[in-house]
Amino acid sequence: MSSQHFDEQKLREISERVDLVELVAESVRLTRKGGRYWGICPFHQEKTPSFSVNREKNVFYCFGCHKGGNVFAFLMQKDGLSFREAALVLAQRAGVELAVAEEDRQRSDQRRELLAMNKMAAGIYHQQLIGSGGNEARIYLDKRGISAESIEQFELGLAGNDGDALVHHLQKKGYSIDSIKANGLARSYEQSHKVYDLFRERIIFPIARYDSGVIAFGGRTMGDTVPKYLNSPESELFSKRRNLYGLLQAREHMRRLNQAVLVEGYMDCIKLHQAGVKNAVASLGTAFTAEQAELIARYAESVVVVYDGDEAGQRETIRALDILENHSLVCYVLVLPPGKDPDELVTSMRGAGVAQYIENNRITGLEYRIMRLVETTKGDGIEEKLRIIREIKPRIQCLESSLEKDFYSRLLAQKLRIEEDVVTREMRARRTNISRQAAADSPAEYSPDLAERLVAAVINKPYMYERLVQALGSNILAGTVQGEILQVYSRLQAGKIEALECQQAMEAELSKMGYAGEYARIMVLTEEQYLSEAELNELIVRLRIKREEKAWNALAKRVNMLGDTGEFEDFLKIILDFHRILKYSREGEAY
Ligand code: UTP
Ligand code: MN
Repeated sequence: MSSQHFDEQKLREISERVDLVELVAESVRLTRKGGRYWGICPFHQEKTPSFSVNREKNVFYCFGCHKGGNVFAFLMQKDGLSFREAALVLAQRAGVELAVAEEDRQRSDQRRELLAMNKMAAGIYHQQLIGSGGNEARIYLDKRGISAESIEQFELGLAGNDGDALVHHLQKKGYSIDSIKANGLARSYEQSHKVYDLFRERIIFPIARYDSGVIAFGGRTMGDTVPKYLNSPESELFSKRRNLYGLLQAREHMRRLNQAVLVEGYMDCIKLHQAGVKNAVASLGTAFTAEQAELIARYAESVVVVYDGDEAGQRETIRALDILENHSLVCYVLVLPPGKDPDELVTSMRGAGVAQYIENNRITGLEYRIMRLVETTKGDGIEEKLRIIREIKPRIQCLESSLEKDFYSRLLAQKLRIEEDVVTREMRARRTNISRQAAADSPAEYSPDLAERLVAAVINKPYMYERLVQALGSNILAGTVQGEILQVYSRLQAGKIEALECQQAMEAELSKMGYAGEYARIMVLTEEQYLSEAELNELIVRLRIKREEKAWNALAKRVNMLGDTGEFEDFLKIILDFHRILKYSREGEAY
């Protein structure tokens, strides 16, 4: 769901009316320094404030973790909301009526009814568990090591063996059979018209969302009934692939630690929380989904995957890694002994030191991939080993530090039981290729500070932009984020809109492009950091020199490539290009 549903004008009104400083101040202690407000960043752990709000521009930026944006972005990141959700919350705060289509209204009315019903059902189940009828179930939970606090914290419940108790109860409260069935709490068998509770003689695990409450239930048998777990069917409220069990309880901790612990089962999740690993969430036994990765990424930048030690769990681990890494999450894996799951790990450690154990024994996603690949490859001839090297190679090569590259090359060599030399040579062979290509593709390196100050100056003093374009042409800082921002600016400026309007339009445009953070940073910086006339002139000269260097380098590369085989004509062309560079740099023109 995107902002397209909402009127842009209304959204602008909201961001004008909501004071970001006030909004932030509700959760962050801010102190004023100059035109800016400073506080401890709510999005990463720090001791000295690097989180800053610019009241005039209504943007925030953290110089530590580089998150930034407008009021919507702040709320989205603070509460893990989608844009739509954040817009609705802020609309209410601003007293702006965001138009909601009639169809949407009906749906939200229906959702409200189903949520209220779930809340009631969860309460009924819970009472049954803690009441006198729940004796046996409590003994079961006790045997499984689930504490009374966990029963409360996760609002565990019990569905009795009376086949339609819940239906009766809900009916008495005024819910229709149809809505109870639509909510997946009851079903009727085809022939008879009799309606039965879905859950019978099961421990109940409510699945909750922080913003709406209970959306579904899972129920575990206390005996050998099949299936072991029964879950609410997919419904208006519940989509298994879009939710994570335990997120309600874990999300604050995920944010605090900037890390999630991902497990498969209800029990695993609860037991980890009980053992102090409060950032644990469960994927509910289905194949892990991209939507679930997105959900995690709202709160944390890294994940420790702790799936079952058996073959299925390990296969799923690789799948989860693929998806998590796709969402730019830094991944670790804790491998459990075969046949063990996190629940049993907690039990065998008697609940003590589990967080430390995970911390000490987790390996990186890449280390896990290497290990897994070696383990699952049949045969250990040179063919197989080469295949493994080839598969892992790109992952090692794209690492940033050479320290890491060396580490993983060595690890790979060890695991394959071959000479380190063989692996490192393989790596190096391709590495030069890649870095050569990267050098060709990547833009020249401008000092980011200067480039950002340039953007700030341009946005605030339009005449500077004119000067810049005159001197360097419109393709300034090409290939960099700042360059993109300037492009957007030039597009919008072409329409000659007012400064404030321009800023808002840029904000909208750039967040669509994923540059909200960088733009916010610049906006926050613009306070005292405009570029002076003199600096602008100096910068123009420097950019020109950069361009020349780049052009010279490109030429030099072409000469090198021609080598001995070069044709006379090719050389001639190059000489002409030399000439052009000299001419332009003398005359100060752009090319
Ligand atoms: P597991 O079979 O690993 O169960 O399934 P578990 O979590 O260890 O449960 P206990 O310890 O035996 O009580 C992992 C998850 O897969 C889903 C559940 O979410 C479960 O927690 N699952 C499993 C089902 O939905 N249905 C099933 O029949 C089994
Ligand atoms: Mn288990």
